[in-house]
Amino acid sequence: MNPIETKMLKNTPADIALAAELLKRGELVVMPTETVYGLAADARNEAAVAAIFTAKGRPQDNPLIVHISDLSELQALVKSVPEAAKKLAAAYWPGPLTMILPRSSSIPAVVSAGLDTVAVRFPSHPVAQALIRESGCPLAAPSANLSGSPSPTTAAHVAADLNGRVSAIVDGGACQVGLESTVVSLVGDKPRLLRPGGITLAQLQAVLGDVEVDDAVTHKLKEGAVVASPGMKYKHYAPKAKVVLVKGTPAAFAAFVNSKKADGVYALCFSGEETALTVPTLTYGRREDASAQAQQLFYCLRRADELGAKTLYTACPSEDGVGLAVYNRLLRAAAFEVIDLDAPTKKSVVLGLTGPTGSGKSAVADVLKAHGAVIIDADKVARDVVEKGEPCLAALVEAFGTEILNPDETLNRRALAAKAFASDDQTARLTALTHPFILARMRKELAEAEKAGAKLIVVDAPLLFESGFDRVCDKTVAVLAPREARLSRICARDGISEKAAAERMARQPDDEFYAARATRLIRNDGDLAALYSAAEEIIQWLNP
Ligand code: TXA
Ligand code: MG
Repeated sequence: MNPIETKMLKNTPADIALAAELLKRGELVVMPTETVYGLAADARNEAAVAAIFTAKGRPQDNPLIVHISDLSELQALVKSVPEAAKKLAAAYWPGPLTMILPRSSSIPAVVSAGLDTVAVRFPSHPVAQALIRESGCPLAAPSANLSGSPSPTTAAHVAADLNGRVSAIVDGGACQVGLESTVVSLVGDKPRLLRPGGITLAQLQAVLGDVEVDDAVTHKLKEGAVVASPGMKYKHYAPKAKVVLVKGTPAAFAAFVNSKKADGVYALCFSGEETALTVPTLTYGRREDASAQAQQLFYCLRRADELGAKTLYTACPSEDGVGLAVYNRLLRAAAFEVIDLDAPTKKSVVLGLTGPTGSGKSAVADVLKAHGAVIIDADKVARDVVEKGEPCLAALVEAFGTEILNPDETLNRRALAAKAFASDDQTARLTALTHPFILARMRKELAEAEKAGAKLIVVDAPLLFESGFDRVCDKTVAVLAPREARLSRICARDGISEKAAAERMARQPDDEFYAARATRLIRNDGDLAALYSAAEEIIQWLNP
């Protein structure tokens, strides 16, 4: 649109008279109200109303509020005045409350974006009342901002958006409420709160009894959802800076925000809490004072942009009373993302699983895995760390010679065993060498699983207690089995003689060793079904 000259007017009789004259002629005038500044035009003049949409860059499907200066003016705008509207008007008009009522034909459809209802408000601001009275027009007026940005609460903020787009701006000082009016629909079966504002939900309930709260008040609308209040579907109230809403105690908020300190990082915090912050701050009222927060919020959002803030970490307000309106606007500014520092970060449960060879430990691990546990298998890790190219393999070559390598430089296990098990000294040397690598890899895998948010992590390790790895486990389970059963299982599994299996078993600790250390034992002396049900019980017990 071509820029026009914008007159800056004051709250004087001459300026009010001039502004009223402009309105009568179908021009656009920005007026102060107790909530936010409004971009006003004669609601009965279709061309003037259309110009509002153009000046704001407002989507055509978002209806406007019609403002009146006396209750007697209501009748002409609506088809009927329900009992609930009369009661609300008596209690809260003039004031920051808008009612949705059936639209009469005196209001053109463009005002309501084609809906058969109309939003009506009787503002308490004396300048708004004077303009309506003197112009003799019901005034259609959305907030006087460019569509999408925060509503203006000072004449300077209006001018920043609309200078050159309206005929006049009447300066009435800073708005008292600071957020747009409460919008309540009275056309359905039950009164419904569409937009929270200066008149609280409790105040509506005090007059009307039951009041439904539209989902859009605190929730993001689903794609394609039908909305009661079209204005709620747009990303609103957002400054250019990215707003990040953070819930938490003053100390937690400060610690979190201070850790983000960088160029362009600002905090919007409650008054009195700025001293704990090391980033530049804006304050918007005391933590317990929702009215002050409402009054200053939009001013601060715009101020943040003026200061060049890139990210604005904002202390999350309470949802009580007027706080619901503050929260509603901030949720939208933050695109519905809230970081909750109080939310318990449920950490992973780490279970150490051990037992002598052939006890059935792996079968238990399989059941836990089927329940979603992440398994860290020490035997597998022991194989992984001696893969070709691994530093552990290099260390083994250094200690035992290149004879332990195959021609392709992979580990020749048989050759290593021949050397390492030749004497107790050599065996000890092998253990001392490999264990640090294995433990480091297991710790790394554990950290990764925790970071990935695994609920249950099972560390399956024959040497759980000997290695000290049990100390990083929340609980430990040892699987034990009768000697005969283990013996035959080892022979069958590894294809070795009974004698060799017996020798291997003899090198392992006895049942008492495990019983003295484990949080819990599984005695695998029944059939497989019994073992499985014992494993299921472990899941119940851990309740990850
Ligand atoms: O405090 C206020 O209400 C300010 C001042 C200037 O009065 N005005 C204001 O207007 O906030 P605006 O246009 O920015 O917001 C009007 C809201 C929008 O969310 C719109 O969708 C809703 O009211 N609305 C208007 N007419 C409606 C209707 N017939 N049915 C449902 N919602 C309606
Ligand atoms: Mg608006």
